Amino acid sequence: MNGILSVGRAIRMGAGAAIVVAIAMSLAPANLAGQALNQPESGVAKPVGVAARDGMVVTQEARAARIGVDILRNGGNAVDAAVAVGFALAVSYPRAGNIGGGGFMVIHRANGEDTAIDYRETAPAAINAKSFLDAQGNADPQKSRMLALAIGVPGTVAGLALAEKEYGSGRFTLADLIAPAIAMARDGITLDDDMTDEQTNILARLAHWPASAKIFLKADGGGLSAGDRLVQSDLADTLQAIARDGPDAFYQGPIAWKIAAAVQAAGGVMTVDDLKDYRAIERAPVRGSYRGYDIVSMPPPSSGGVELLEMLNILEGYDLAHDDETQTLFLMIEAMKRAYADRALFLGDPETIKVPVTKLISKSYAATLRASIDPEHATPASAIRAGGSNDPEGHNTTHFSIVDRFGNAVSNTYTLNFSYGVGLVADGTGVLLNNELDDFAAKPDTPNAYGLTGFEANEPGPGKRPVSSMTPTVVLKDGKPFLVTGSPGGSRIITAVLQVIVNVIDRGMTIADAVAAPRVHNQWVPDQVFAEPTVPPDIVAALQARGDKVVPQRPFTSAESILIAPEGFIGAADPRSHGAVAIGY
Ligand code: DON
Repeated sequence: MNGILSVGRAIRMGAGAAIVVAIAMSLAPANLAGQALNQPESGVAKPVGVAARDGMVVTQEARAARIGVDILRNGGNAVDAAVAVGFALAVSYPRAGNIGGGGFMVIHRANGEDTAIDYRETAPAAINAKSFLDAQGNADPQKSRMLALAIGVPGTVAGLALAEKEYGSGRFTLADLIAPAIAMARDGITLDDDMTDEQTNILARLAHWPASAKIFLKADGGGLSAGDRLVQSDLADTLQAIARDGPDAFYQGPIAWKIAAAVQAAGGVMTVDDLKDYRAIERAPVRGSYRGYDIVSMPPPSSGGVELLEMLNILEGYDLAHDDETQTLFLMIEAMKRAYADRALFLGDPETIKVPVTKLISKSYAATLRASIDPEHATPASAIRAGGSNDPEGHNTTHFSIVDRFGNAVSNTYTLNFSYGVGLVADGTGVLLNNELDDFAAKPDTPNAYGLTGFEANEPGPGKRPVSSMTPTVVLKDGKPFLVTGSPGGSRIITAVLQVIVNVIDRGMTIADAVAAPRVHNQWVPDQVFAEPTVPPDIVAALQARGDKVVPQRPFTSAESILIAPEGFIGAADPRSHGAVAIGY
């Protein structure tokens, strides 16, 4: 274990802040004091925790992180910083940061209150249960993933504006917080190597739409390269209009007209009324407890918080701190299967169906599920509930965690669904649009792009919000933030968050190790355990011997996390993301 790795553990054991900060700084080059860039050499990333006393921002992109830290330094709170980072990533990390998509923000306030802002996209009014079927009545992935029909009414602008209005410090206007994003869009940014995309499916998605190709592709159709400059003048104008006139500038008037016109010209059904009717919704977070910690996470339409609590409740009945690694992973996998089966059946938009949240997150329900687990033998998915099939594909979303010196914490995950969403920029706006409606169950028991099945509870319908897996989470100890975490990764998000929490609370890992540790994932259907290549072969063999089908899969998730101790903050950027960074001050 190197010096920085020991920082998180030192803090957990109550070491003094000065020592902690000194350790981090003595190991970092002078100009990187208080921050760590995850740039793996020879493909091996070292888990690095970054210590700071007054504030911490952990994101997947460094420019946006610096913007957030500047806001904190200038007296802003974590919500101010989150809003600035949210707008900044729309410019500097366009594959997932966005104003044309949606997401969720969980806020813990210094006064002890918790809240959740749901800015998930909604289905346009013309969407119905059959919208994503072909002529034979089968789910048509082209419609829900590749065509403009897949585009949900974007929620990000409304969500960030609501967060700022209700929970910002009041020291900054919305315009102040958008200003750095406008400057980056207008002046351009020089692309780093992790911001370029070579994957043919992504390039094809952008090439399909001339308005997108002219911004994100070279004249020959190739992707932009490291060192190229990305200038987004139309996006700068759009952001400027939002800064000047507030979120209505996005949802009504010329920008909304252009978005609706572009979607309809591309064959979609979004109207100006759909945009005008969009509302971000403030919701009570789901809450539960785990071994004396309080878990505060995202309620429906996310499945994240509910399923995270369901899994933690199941696991609380085991002594994971003393189990060996195989047994811990095995039990987590068994909990995953049961939670994801419930996700498929019960989760939907709470505005249109009653999700049995109270039951699903109850300790007594977890006890009945635990009783069905054989600690030595894997339960086949079919024994839990009838299944479907899988069609995995890798995409992108982005998560950031922020804490301030006042005691506020923000956990935010937002997305366009796939990298660059559906790939369509609404001409004249610079706004890349999502393909979030693939998160509906296009047809009962038919998998979406992440292999997730669903039933009537998550069927497409007018104005509905598709079920999400995004799991922005704040863990509290004695009512104060202890851990802020979340991740991109489609269906794998919830299990990534689970493993970070278990790794810290049960396995006593530093936050950097907890984030870096190899992850496994099971989502009930398909009946497979996806294991990162770094899961040791003897553990893979042991899981297989118990009856799990283990399938290697490249890392999908990126859990940008912060551990909070009385002595200071430890930021852990996930080494799986090349550009991820923790910056504190
Ligand atoms: O809301 C969801 O669950 C998905 N649309 C998230 C997609 C995602 O995380 C892609 N990231 N790699």
